[in-house]
Amino acid sequence: MVQHRLLFVCLGNICRSPIAQGVFAHVAEAAGMEDRFSLDSAGTGAWHEGHPPDARAQAAALARGIDLSGQRGRQVAVRDFRAFDMILAMDRTNLAALLDLAPPGHASKVRLFLGDAYDPIQREVPDPYYGGDEGFEEVLDLVEAGARALLAQLT
Ligand code: 4NP
Repeated sequence: MVQHRLLFVCLGNICRSPIAQGVFAHVAEAAGMEDRFSLDSAGTGAWHEGHPPDARAQAAALARGIDLSGQRGRQVAVRDFRAFDMILAMDRTNLAALLDLAPPGHASKVRLFLGDAYDPIQREVPDPYYGGDEGFEEVLDLVEAGARALLAQLT
């Protein structure tokens, strides 16, 4: 039975948040807990509506056994604040955009994806879009640790 509806949010919805969705699904499945979660991702921007994840994101995830190819980009919408229990921002810019969009009474659903165990800088998942392949490895490392921490917190 679904107990937690989680929405992962970044800027473009083609790098970080599709990775976060795929990694969280993978970690939950490995723990035999996938039935408890309903997962999706979205971007605060609309540039990549309908697009699959960035090829570099797909390759870096697939190298760790995680297939992102079925995901498609979409922009976050006001209705998401009712449809999801927790809205997880990859960085503070995403967090601020979500708090601006949140309808009254729903801002408490929004938080940074990387939890309190991370230091103040590493609580953001850095945007890898304009950088090299090593940026995607860093995203995967941070997101794997964040997904495990979030799963432990919720179960
Ligand atoms: P993401 O990365 O927010 O992790 O999906 C980006 C992807 C695309 C753009 C920016 C960030 N863009 O400006 O198109």
